[in-house]
Amino acid sequence: PTALAATIVLAYLLGSIPFGLVLTRLFGAGDIRKIGSGNIGATNVLRTGRKGLAAATLILDGGKGAVAVGLADHCSTDLAIFAAGAALVGHLFPVWLRFKGGKGVATTLGVLLAIAWPVGVVACLVWLLVAFTLRYSSLAALVAIGTSPVVALFLADGPRAILALLMAVLVFARHHENIRRLASGTESKIKLKKA
Ligand code: G3P
Repeated sequence: PTALAATIVLAYLLGSIPFGLVLTRLFGAGDIRKIGSGNIGATNVLRTGRKGLAAATLILDGGKGAVAVGLADHCSTDLAIFAAGAALVGHLFPVWLRFKGGKGVATTLGVLLAIAWPVGVVACLVWLLVAFTLRYSSLAALVAIGTSPVVALFLADGPRAILALLMAVLVFARHHENIRRLASGTESKIKLKKA
């Protein structure tokens, strides 16, 4: 029980590091929470026009999820599943930002790659496919993460499929504004070049 509690706390703390906010502050890109959607994730960092910072946010937000899983995996695979969930909860509800964190896409992808890599790879490919064809980051995330529990049933196991399902529920809940904008046709598209 001590190992479980310590792992969950450590994974939560790792997940709660708001890399998008830290990097944009550190490199003078303004307060990300006052730009675009106000989210602290890579998609919103991209709206500042700083592609490098957006890429770093994506990698670090994903990486922290993978590291949390990796650390726990040393002790046991079951522990890794709890660490995965705790890292995502840390990103979504960080104590440092009064529990108002990100939307969890990069962290979920990082966690999936670490805990069941074939599921993570499929999710990343689905994200890329939807993002490149339809140009909506949020929609790409909803499709990729929404389908991951089903993919996990085939490419992983029951506990991992349940984890993927719980993560999808959390990610969908954090995307309620995006879902409303997608439905009304007002969601912003990904722009890689300046207009
Ligand atoms: O990664 C979050 C993405 O799905 C949506 O971000 O800033 O467009 O709300 P944003």
